[in-house]
Amino acid sequence: MDSFFIRPEEPEDAPAIFEVHRQAFAQDRESRLVDALRDEGDINPDLSLVAVHDGRIIGHILFCPITIVSGTVETPALALATLSVHQDYQGMGTGKALTEAGLSECRRLGNRIVIVIGHPGYYPRFGFTIARESHILAPFPCADDVFMALPLKPGALDGIGGTVRYPPAFDAVGAHIA
Ligand SMILES: CC(C)(COP(=O)(O)OP(=O)(O)OC[C@H]1O[C@@H](n2cnc3c(N)ncnc32)[C@H](O)[C@@H]1OP(=O)(O)O)[C@@H](O)C(=O)NCCC(=O)NCCS
Repeated sequence: MDSFFIRPEEPEDAPAIFEVHRQAFAQDRESRLVDALRDEGDINPDLSLVAVHDGRIIGHILFCPITIVSGTVETPALALATLSVHQDYQGMGTGKALTEAGLSECRRLGNRIVIVIGHPGYYPRFGFTIARESHILAPFPCADDVFMALPLKPGALDGIGGTVRYPPAFDAVGAHIA
């Protein structure tokens, strides 16, 4: 593939972002999650990045705010809410580039922890480990190996623990149902 570049989403990108997730996942649940998060005001364009090739959006990654709750202690974190690459462009490094650019931006903005529900064969390459090993739990039934956490700073997971609280959009679209 010729080169692609990564940039923050712009308002007019919404339909193309919807379509790239719908095409990659062969369903529209992830697309609806992105739209619902946008409607709820939970999208920071700096944490919603698109990969553009030949003028076309071929991939998208989105991080949204979440909270890790333990009793009265609430720790802010981010969820890697969606990542996908158009099927015609998969396996060429776009997902890796989006993830690395996104995590770098998360770090630059001062965030400390990212949680993802995703393929256990994909995310560990970026440093994600099983969240339960850091005493971080999902608020719904979920296999341990798909629920992962990444410290963006050394020690960021130390002494955290708790249950993740997602924005309402996740429930609204059934995003957590495998
Ligand atoms: C997963 C996805 C985002 C990866 O993006 P990509 O641009 O194809 O990936 P890259 O080119 O950066 O990396 C390719 C590597 O990812 C691996 N990979 C791709 N999809 C994978 C999956 N579902 N599970 C585990 N590994 C996967 C490939 O085997 C390859 O591994 P290698 O580097 O060891 O050879 C993309 O394939 C996709 O959109 N899939 C459909 C939607 C999806 O599953 N999104 C993630 C939800 S958790």
